[in-house]
Amino acid sequence: MTDRTAPQSSPCQSGTASLQRLTQFARDMGHPTSLPIIAERILSGLSEVSQLSHGVLYLFDRERECFCQVVSQGQISSTTASPIVSLNHPLVQQLTHHQDILDSSALTDSLYSASLDNTAGAQLATLPINLAIPLLNREKLIAFVLLQSRIGSTVIPSHTKELLAVMAQNAANALDSFLLYEDQRQSQALMRRTDRLRSLETIAGGFAHEIRNPLTSIKTFIQLAPERKDDSQFINEFSRIVLDDVNRIERLIQEILDYARYMEPRLTDEDLNEIVSSCLYFIQVKADSRGIKIEKDLAPELPRGMLDRQQIKQVLLNLLLNAMDAMSEKIGTLRVRTTRLLKTDGEVWTQVEIEDTGHGISSDNLDHIFDPFFTTKHASAVNEGTGLGLTIAHQIIREHRGEIQVQSTEGIGTTFRINLPSHRN
Ligand SMILES: Nc1ncnc2c1ncn2[C@@H]1O[C@H](COP(=O)(O)OP(=O)(O)O)[C@@H](O)[C@H]1O
Ligand SMILES: [Mg+2]
Repeated sequence: MTDRTAPQSSPCQSGTASLQRLTQFARDMGHPTSLPIIAERILSGLSEVSQLSHGVLYLFDRERECFCQVVSQGQISSTTASPIVSLNHPLVQQLTHHQDILDSSALTDSLYSASLDNTAGAQLATLPINLAIPLLNREKLIAFVLLQSRIGSTVIPSHTKELLAVMAQNAANALDSFLLYEDQRQSQALMRRTDRLRSLETIAGGFAHEIRNPLTSIKTFIQLAPERKDDSQFINEFSRIVLDDVNRIERLIQEILDYARYMEPRLTDEDLNEIVSSCLYFIQVKADSRGIKIEKDLAPELPRGMLDRQQIKQVLLNLLLNAMDAMSEKIGTLRVRTTRLLKTDGEVWTQVEIEDTGHGISSDNLDHIFDPFFTTKHASAVNEGTGLGLTIAHQIIREHRGEIQVQSTEGIGTTFRINLPSHRN
């Protein structure tokens, strides 16, 4: 019977062919998107060069402290080779000790001795393995590949073993940096979650504080109403106050719900100019009715970025509405500009600037505008605020790994700048 997956010619490779194969393999190792993909590329590369068509890759699992099967190819599968190999398995120990590729003659002893006292070893012992290739990082075994041919024993030429060893080193480096990257990603996600919980805690604490006053007034009204039911002035005035209080509580609840709903950004490939335009379209009527002039200057060919469209809209709308609130006393101009930004490290970012000619922010207040519930709009009936808009905007921009900056001069106006990472182009 002929094996179509593995040509039975000699696994000899010319120098140029080896170099080409190695270059291709190194290229395959770049930018893997997931562990199964990188593991599959390693296994198929080593299998192709050794011309051993069946194989399995085991990776060290730090949590379980053992080696776990990640991918297999050909007849070696999870049903024939054990899914888990313990650290004290003789094969693992031999690979750790030798730090080199083991062929069938070296392997037989270790596998058969293992089969005497351990079922995982017994399973491996029944497999006629031709090669065991360690993947080492700073002399530590991080993974290994077992390869098997369907025709029993095959002699692997020494120059093929040398090529396999270089490939294995390359694979170990790639695996190690991939795992490091994954670790970083996970800890960043954990930090973000902790951060979010902390800000939610602050918001919840502030919320309790904020609703205490309106609740007290509602309670007082309910307590007094039965005995003052004939005092129409009392009833009318207090009803109005209570209604305002209830409205305020409702607005606070809505903002907190909005915050909670969009907690985790859902990033998609977006054109920032398009999001800005859609927000401006939305506020145009309000601006017209207040005599506010909108000047729009959007950079052509702005690089696209991975953004949560809803969240960025929420941020921009809040900044635009704040700017309009600040100009309620005079006829003003709202300038919105987007630009391509080159960071000092060479990264290309995008920037949105929202500039108003409103009353500005005093330097004392400037230190607090991002604090939960900080608002100067308590008194005004027209522009009643919750003081959560900028807190949420700040949080959202942080989650996009961006920056939000503010510059203000009292009596002259305010400029908010949002910088966001983009795709390089
Ligand atoms: N463009 C602006 N001009 C002047 N003051 C501003 C501007 N943007 C924000 N502020 C100040 O920051 C405070 C907090 O804003 P925000 O968090 O959006 O809450 P809110 O709008 O509900 O008050 C506002 O009450 C206001 O005092
Ligand atoms: Mg606001």
